[in-house]
Amino acid sequence: MNKATRKAIIAGNWKMNNTRVEAKALLEAIKPLVANAEGNVEVIACVPFTNLETAMNVTAGSNVKIGAENVHFAKSGAYTGEISADMLVELGVEYVVIGHSERRQYFGETDETVNKRTVAALEAGLKPIVCVGELKWERECNITEEVIARQIKLDLWSLTAEQVKNTVIAYEPVWAIGTGLTATPDQAEEVCAFIRAQLAKLYDQATADAVTIQYGGSMNAANAAELLAKPNIDGGLIGGASLKAADFNTIVQAAVQG
Ligand code: 13P
Repeated sequence: MNKATRKAIIAGNWKMNNTRVEAKALLEAIKPLVANAEGNVEVIACVPFTNLETAMNVTAGSNVKIGAENVHFAKSGAYTGEISADMLVELGVEYVVIGHSERRQYFGETDETVNKRTVAALEAGLKPIVCVGELKWERECNITEEVIARQIKLDLWSLTAEQVKNTVIAYEPVWAIGTGLTATPDQAEEVCAFIRAQLAKLYDQATADAVTIQYGGSMNAANAAELLAKPNIDGGLIGGASLKAADFNTIVQAAVQG
């Protein structure tokens, strides 16, 4: 299937950065720069919970969509410090990052909780961006494909084909996150193609062909075009470079060029 028929998505993952005042300024700067991507590339800013309402207000009427960085799997209840899918939907949030390696590494996130969060997000009408990726040690031991296959199977467990089509997969090799070490375009393409093959095995080719697969891990203004030119890389999940309007826009424009 032609890549052009899939939705290209460039998403910033701000992580734990920006106060509300800073968020407003950054989004005001990004908005006009990326306006030309409308109808071609989906542009998303995934921001800290405390910035969501501000971000929704600042981007209202623009083509910049807003996402959260996590969501809990329960509807409500005794889960101190957590945020439910309904709370995000009420704000008008459309996307949510789930299973980021920082959550897996620092906050005990497992494939099981990633799966539960993904199901809860979809049931509430949110579009999950599910992150998968191997550790450096796992790549060195030549088990990248086993690791990714396991994550895809477990993280998406019980999802229908329709739900998977509403799910974005972000391939983020853990060794490339925030390290300045980017996977080469060929390495990234190889794993993104492998993810699509797994989806075809678990569902069918048409479903696999419809899913947007992003690359993330030190994607920046200098390397985005080469990564995004690959046939199975449909977008990017961008950390550091999403905090600078000009750099983020350069990546969006690279996606617009295809
Ligand atoms: P960096 O772009 O800072 O490497 O972060 C990538 C990432 O973790 C996006 O979710």
